[in-house]
Amino acid sequence: MLDKKMDIATLKAKKGIEKITAITAYDALMAHIFDGEVDVILVGDSLKMSFGGESETLGASMQEMIYHTKAVCKGAKHSFIIADMPFGSYATPNMALKNALRFYKNTAADALKLEVGIEKLPIIKALCEEGIAIMAHIGLKPQFMRFDGGFKVKGKDEAQAKELIDTALAMQEAGVFGMLIEGVKSEVSARITQALEIPTIGIGAGVECDGQILVWSDAFGFFDEFKPKFVRRYCDGKAMLKDAIRAYAKDVKSQAFPQAKESY
Ligand code: KIV
Repeated sequence: MLDKKMDIATLKAKKGIEKITAITAYDALMAHIFDGEVDVILVGDSLKMSFGGESETLGASMQEMIYHTKAVCKGAKHSFIIADMPFGSYATPNMALKNALRFYKNTAADALKLEVGIEKLPIIKALCEEGIAIMAHIGLKPQFMRFDGGFKVKGKDEAQAKELIDTALAMQEAGVFGMLIEGVKSEVSARITQALEIPTIGIGAGVECDGQILVWSDAFGFFDEFKPKFVRRYCDGKAMLKDAIRAYAKDVKSQAFPQAKESY
């Protein structure tokens, strides 16, 4: 349990010493439960899929991401909070700056995350120069799902591996404080992690990353339509809640609830 607010210096200092722990959250309720138990809470645009029932993240808007980030910031006071910039909100340096400032002014997010390739370097530079803490997201980029024709694992050949390593180094040079690596062959994430001075956080990217993140509804068994290979379920949340809702409905029907002690 963290006893003080996590910061960038502490996250960076963990590299090679202690793994960074991270999970997603989208509201104050869950953020409060996770707060301090993990180093980082990500307000991911995955909320469109895990909670919005959509098959991709592309529909997330600035307004929605700000709403959810505000809620998470209310619930979590110790973990470091990163918010995803949604698809289409950082197409040019000016647009990125305007939207990143909107995030910073309207929420207490500690940092923002952008899905990047080398072509986004001028945008990342512009944000870092303005004093916005940025985590770069490389590898499988869900916002590129339509462009890529699905969720495709990256780093499958030497050309892809080199592109990822070069991109990661360029992003570090531009000033990002950390790298999220998604859906990348383990040996390639290990090479990226070794090449960088900043920490890497992996999802489906093997054990060599400096930390790990999972989407909370996957990790706790609330989403069970399919289970990606990289997910480990730490509880069967869906079954637990199903039992609870059935018990509640049964008690209401039988008038076992409410009793006198639960009434005014
Ligand atoms: O949106 C998200 O939750 C993410 C994770 C998959 C890392 O980017």
